[in-house]
Amino acid sequence: MPETWWRGAAIYQVYLRSFADGNGDGIGDLAGLRTRLPYLADLGVNAVWLNPWYPSPMADGGYDVADYRDIEPVFGTLAEAERFIGEAHALGIKVIIDVVPNHSSTASAWFEEALAAGPGSPARERFWFRDEPGDWKSIFGGPAWTQVPDGQWYLHLFDPGQPDFNWTNPEVHAEFHDVLRFWFDRGVDGIRIDSAAVLVKDFDGGDPDGYTDLDEVHEIYRGWRRLADEYDERILVGEVWFPDQERFARYLRPDELHTAFNFDFLACPWEPAALRRSIEQTLDTHIPLGAPPTWVLSNHDVARVVTRYGRAETSWDHGNRRDGAPSDLELGHRRARAAALLAMALPGSVYVYQGEELGLPEVDDIPGELRQDPMWTRSGHTVPGRDGCRVPLPWAGEEPPFGFGAGEPWLPQPEDWRKLTVEAQTADLGSTLNLYRAALRLRRDRLGDGTLTWLQSRPDVLAFTRESGLTCVVNLGADPVRLPPHESVLLASGPLDGDELPSDTAVWLT
Ligand code: NOJ
Ligand code: CA
Repeated sequence: MPETWWRGAAIYQVYLRSFADGNGDGIGDLAGLRTRLPYLADLGVNAVWLNPWYPSPMADGGYDVADYRDIEPVFGTLAEAERFIGEAHALGIKVIIDVVPNHSSTASAWFEEALAAGPGSPARERFWFRDEPGDWKSIFGGPAWTQVPDGQWYLHLFDPGQPDFNWTNPEVHAEFHDVLRFWFDRGVDGIRIDSAAVLVKDFDGGDPDGYTDLDEVHEIYRGWRRLADEYDERILVGEVWFPDQERFARYLRPDELHTAFNFDFLACPWEPAALRRSIEQTLDTHIPLGAPPTWVLSNHDVARVVTRYGRAETSWDHGNRRDGAPSDLELGHRRARAAALLAMALPGSVYVYQGEELGLPEVDDIPGELRQDPMWTRSGHTVPGRDGCRVPLPWAGEEPPFGFGAGEPWLPQPEDWRKLTVEAQTADLGSTLNLYRAALRLRRDRLGDGTLTWLQSRPDVLAFTRESGLTCVVNLGADPVRLPPHESVLLASGPLDGDELPSDTAVWLT
């Protein structure tokens, strides 16, 4: 297989609402992103992935899409999106966008048409309307069926504002083929597929989870792959969340998706045996398929890695989010820096969620009345949800909004983020931002796609070399460990003690 850009890419996730605000309304937008493109080029990433940027009532942060062929006016215009794609390309940055095929928005033309057309109409056949509700539960809490004024019920695996499409309907297939072409024709390099494993439903099997990973879903992606292959170097990235690695690997067969997020690695506790198992299992599932592994530490759905790794329980579990659990942030910070060097040294592509490069912690104290995640409302205010990892970025200055934009940010930023701004960290040689910059630069030349060779080490130490001769050593134990023989230290996640690597520290050597 030829070496292509995505196989070893470092991909930066832009959560547009919280990246940079260009017009002062407190919400991130394309204007803000465009002015910050040089920051991303300087950081050294190869691509960006943007969360949904489409017109949306924002019932779920834009994952409720009203029109797949336009841009949310709060974010900008279609013309601006096209300019952004061109500008990113001019800086050598590829663009991946989010496509949401499982569900739409109640504000979409199709759903409005379905409501107006009434029961039994072809317009209702694009969704799941029934005379009686089923008993499935919404992933955000509460029932997965909502009643409309004429008495019928529609299915929504997520928020009631996100009606599920009926993928047995050929019109739905045709629609998404057209949407993919629309964006590929505009120069988009890749599609991140939201909730990729849940499109097909089996209502009759009696399984409360009769929508996860049904065999028929693969035929959908085979069609998408054929379409993507008509273009040059375009990729499909699956959001595929479930534990069975053998089933996960099916999405990466050569005629399906190019890559998928490695959530096993993200969910893995900061423990040597578990991490080694996750890495080995990832390599074992990907290599035979010729698909590059991906390494993900965080995204807009999970608690920030600094906070997670400072907790007593460092694994991630969607069903048990541990929101607000106490965290030793200093410890979490050290581990997150070590984890970054580990993830960036592993073979394949790596994702960096905005703010991860600044070492931002989860914001646990957002007042309830400002929270916007539907998880918060749908859970009857018991699950705080995901707003704490979506707080607008601090760019510069001594107080909020820290250069995010002229107006008050849509979620409040902690006062003590003054130490974490891009400006403050640029000036500090030992900052997490400078660690990411250095690592991403070294990674560009020496790492990315390929394989690794494990080195003999203590069980609480992970040590391996890459083809380029770079060695990565991570000490997950309590005691320092002597570095293996080496010529020079390229980069370390924390101070070394002579030839000893302290606990919760990683190093790159040649
Ligand atoms: C996964 C997305 O990452 C998440 O933010 C969203 O709420 C659900 N899919 C539903 O679209
Ligand atoms: Ca704005």
